[in-house]
Amino acid sequence: MNICVIGCGYVGLVTGAVFADLGNDVISVDIDKDRVDILNAGGCPIHEPRLPELLERNLREGRLTFTTSIPEAVSESEIIFICVGTPPAEDGGTDLSQVEAAATDIARSVNSYKIIVNKSTVPVGTGDFVREVIEKNGVATTDFDVVCNPEFLREGQAVRDTLHPDRIVIGSSSEKAANIVQFLYQALDAPCIITDTQSAELIKYASNAFLATKISFINAVANLCELTQADIREVAKGVGADSRIGHAFLGAGLGYGGSCFPKDVDALLYASRTIGAEMSILEAVRMENDSRVPRFVQRIIERLGAKDHVPLEGKTIGVLGLSFKPDTDDLREAKSIEICHALREAGSRLRAYDPIATANARRIIGDEGIEYCQSPYEAAKGANGIVIVTEWREFIQLNLNRMKSEMVEPIIFDGRNIYSSDQVKDAGFEYFSIGKTSTKH
Ligand code: UDX
Repeated sequence: MNICVIGCGYVGLVTGAVFADLGNDVISVDIDKDRVDILNAGGCPIHEPRLPELLERNLREGRLTFTTSIPEAVSESEIIFICVGTPPAEDGGTDLSQVEAAATDIARSVNSYKIIVNKSTVPVGTGDFVREVIEKNGVATTDFDVVCNPEFLREGQAVRDTLHPDRIVIGSSSEKAANIVQFLYQALDAPCIITDTQSAELIKYASNAFLATKISFINAVANLCELTQADIREVAKGVGADSRIGHAFLGAGLGYGGSCFPKDVDALLYASRTIGAEMSILEAVRMENDSRVPRFVQRIIERLGAKDHVPLEGKTIGVLGLSFKPDTDDLREAKSIEICHALREAGSRLRAYDPIATANARRIIGDEGIEYCQSPYEAAKGANGIVIVTEWREFIQLNLNRMKSEMVEPIIFDGRNIYSSDQVKDAGFEYFSIGKTSTKH
């Protein structure tokens, strides 16, 4: 089929590349000419495992092209995916200006029947909004249909998630359009949920908000564990063994970050409030998440700090992991930003290491009071403590004896529970983790 994808960010690039790989002809559009030039030259502007090979192969075989011209892309396609950003608006709602601009541009280029598919995460009612924008720009109702087909892909495994989704959600008031979109996915082995547009829109927000709720819930239980002799990892294991609950997203830690969960929880909270059915449960989810870093930094200060207004003055802290989660260089809403800021504010000097996110961290966190290092061992040099912020795989099997020999004081503050108490105790470390009382060597 001939497909157009508007927006070459994470979602748009992965969607376009996968549909091309399944044999479709895909034209991907972005307003950023530099990005389009990089893509047409065979480059990949984001870090995403497996994506570069997919882009390169489909570009070479002529199934995937990139352009800045919406008219060209829309006129040649039957299905048009909108994959643009939906950032938070100033009033707490969702800024739909990029969706509106895309819909307007599409309307101006309609030359035959088109299916306009919203893949961006959007509030309930956006499908109707897109329809209104297109009609307002002179397109007859019989010349187009609108579909909501949310993405559920995770950064770092976006290609895998697109090829092997848990489910495909297709929402539309048009059976014909829904069936055509379903046909696009026929090569994938996944259940397809065909529903109305508004339900499809809410499925996306509700899924992300529920996952965020699981994380905040287990983090709240972790707080209880820290005041008792219970261990959150044991508790999560036992709770997750109930098939009605499941083990996924019960990892206690510094809370959720990234470009989706914080934004989507806020957007659903705002939408529910506006409609008059406030989901106060999400207020609690957000409050718990917001308290994670201050609580963790307080533990660091209590252990290392002087009773002073700059309690960590003269202390050096090694920070391991800067991206919002492993396998990505993305720092959007990363807990590292808040932690580095708080630790610097408390007077400490930082030595930070991340396998791939250092360039983005320099841009976002800055250089003041931080030395960016080439390895975890370099980050440990002269440190009074090490803080694990992101659970990169390479940190799990660090040579702890070597780390210890670099440090002034052998203390680990593990914000992601990657070590076992015995493992670090045997290596002679004092160990602070989430949801467990501290262990002295
Ligand atoms: C998420 C959703 O999973 C995806 O379906 C959606 O479409 C986009 O948003 P992503 O933002 O890539 O994907 O990250 P995800 O892997 O879901 O993790 C989100 C955050 O939750 C991360 O900050 C992670 O560290 C945190 N998390 C996750 C926990 O704190 N504990 C857990 O057990 C799991």
